[in-house]
Parts: sequence; structure tokens; C-alpha cells
Amino acid sequence: MPSPLANFLGYLNWLARPSHGLSTSEVYDLIATASPTEHGLYLNLGYWREAETMDDASEALAMLVADAGGMTSGDIVLDCGFGFADQDLLWARERQPQQIIGLNITASQVERARQRVADAGLEDRIDLREGSATGMPVPDASVDLVVSLESAFHYQTREDFFAEAFRVLRPGGRLVTADILPMPRSSRFVTRMRQRLSWYLVASRFNIPEANRYLIQPYEMKLEAAGFDGVGVKSIRDDVYAPLHDFLAANPRLLERQHWLAKLLARATLTRKATNVYAGLDYILAVARKPAR
Ligand SMILES: C[S@@+](CC[C@H](N)C(=O)[O-])C[C@H]1O[C@@H](n2cnc3c(N)ncnc32)[C@H](O)[C@@H]1O
Repeated sequence: MPSPLANFLGYLNWLARPSHGLSTSEVYDLIATASPTEHGLYLNLGYWREAETMDDASEALAMLVADAGGMTSGDIVLDCGFGFADQDLLWARERQPQQIIGLNITASQVERARQRVADAGLEDRIDLREGSATGMPVPDASVDLVVSLESAFHYQTREDFFAEAFRVLRPGGRLVTADILPMPRSSRFVTRMRQRLSWYLVASRFNIPEANRYLIQPYEMKLEAAGFDGVGVKSIRDDVYAPLHDFLAANPRLLERQHWLAKLLARATLTRKATNVYAGLDYILAVARKPAR
């Protein structure tokens, strides 16, 4: 547990300096469990088509991803970037895959998530490991479904992750991601400036490598270049950013768990229009399949 002064300096550096120099794990160590959920510890933005709370929306996104990937009871699932494992506990309950192996680079999250899995008595079905989606400690052709729920934009690089996912999937296995991309460049100068600013603020704070900055079509091409077929990538941004923004603006008490510096910034952001705040950010759901032979 860092001292209040160390925490303050950490937040000041992270929020005020775009070249903050923190690793992705250090960013998540700072955020810790301060997400605006009321029950779970999800760190995703949620899928808001029918959801009315942050927890519902985060669960809905996890289920959308599981169903897009066709998760079923016989599957061995590899979950890359599992946060605090809320989605693994949910999938174990709702879709009952044979096994879930989780990979996450943030040691503090792995420790907490393992404890939650043990508390739920699911250690034999959920195996959480510290490791990277770009160098998976998993044998070739050994899993049925690779999932990355709001995490692949971080990877150094996303293409290396596609190659690793292809390697570990058995023939006929599936890949599914919920992921953050830039928006296509607007022809309007003012919108273009807003797009640049919104991408820059998110990419710099959340360590999105420049190599991962491309649109839907190159995303599809990179999946195909990795060997996948049945590739489908669609934007779901209208059911993510604006409804999340409106929900938080209407429920500011949910920011209470955040560090006061983060809260200050969040409150200032919530006074702006969602269309401007998220102008440069697309949010996609992608599926792909490793050819059967
Ligand atoms: C936005 S959080 C999403 C967490 C979780 N999927 C959820 O929906 O709550 C991104 C997660 O990706 C993890 N992560 C970032 N880079 C990673 C990498 N190279 N390999 C595995 N996990 C990574 C982070 O530690 C964090 O847990």
C-alpha cells in the first residue's frame, strides 16, 4: 500500500504529464480498485444498450464478448487481461467452460483476483497466471477460445498478440476482442482537432502504443495476415462511450472511490459533451477463427 504522498505524486505525474513514464502495470496499480462499479471490480467501460448501472453494463460487455466468441461448456478459454477476474467468475457461472486460464501483467490484480477465485471455490476451473498476452506461457493448439476484453489496445503489440492467439488456438478455435481504436479522420477541421486531442489524452494516459493506432479495416487485415478467417469487426461505440458519460454525469457519487485528483479531472470531463470527449475513440467487437485445417 503506497503512502498518501506517494499516491498523490503518482497521480500528479500520471494525470498531468502525458509522458508520465509509468508502465501499464504501474498505471493499474495507481487506479487499484477505484472503478465506478458498486459491487464488482470491473475495469471496462461497459455495454449500455440495456444496462442501467455500471455493474450491469460491465457484465453485459463481458457476456456480449463471451457470446460473440461462442463460449460453451466444453471450452478451454484463455482470457488475456482479466483485471480482477470479474468476467471469469461470471463466465464460470453463466457459460461454465471446462477451464479458464487467465493472463495478466499486473501482479497486484493477479493476487487479488486469485483470492476472489479461491473465495468462490473455483480454483480448479479458473487458473490465473501472471504473464503477457504477447508471450503466452501456453502450449500450441491447446485452447478453444482466446478472449481479450478491453485490453488488446495496451499490448506491445496487438499484432504480436494476434500471432500468439493463433498459435495457442486449436484448429477451428476462436478469437474475440472488445477493443479501443481511433476513429476515421473527420473532414471537418474542428472535429479533427477534437479527435486528435481525445485520442492523445487516452493513448498517453493508458499506454496505447503508436503501433496499435489503426482503423477497423487494417484490424481485419492484420487478423487475416495472422492466419485467421471468418474475421468480423464492428463498431459498438454508440453503446459504450456516450451512455457511460451520461450515466456518470447523472451519478457523480460513483466517483467517490477515486483519488481526489482523478475525481477533479473526471468531474471537469463530465461537464463536456460526450461527442467531444470521445471524438477520437472507436470501440469495437472483433471475432475471428483459426481455420479447421
Ligand atoms: C481496462 S483493463 C480490463 C480488465 C478486465 N478485462 C475488465 O473488463 O474489467 C485492462 C487489463 O489488461 C491488462 N493488461 C495490459 N497489458 C497486458 C498484457 N500485455 N498482457 C496481459 N494483460 C495485460 C491490465 O493489467 C488490465 O488488467
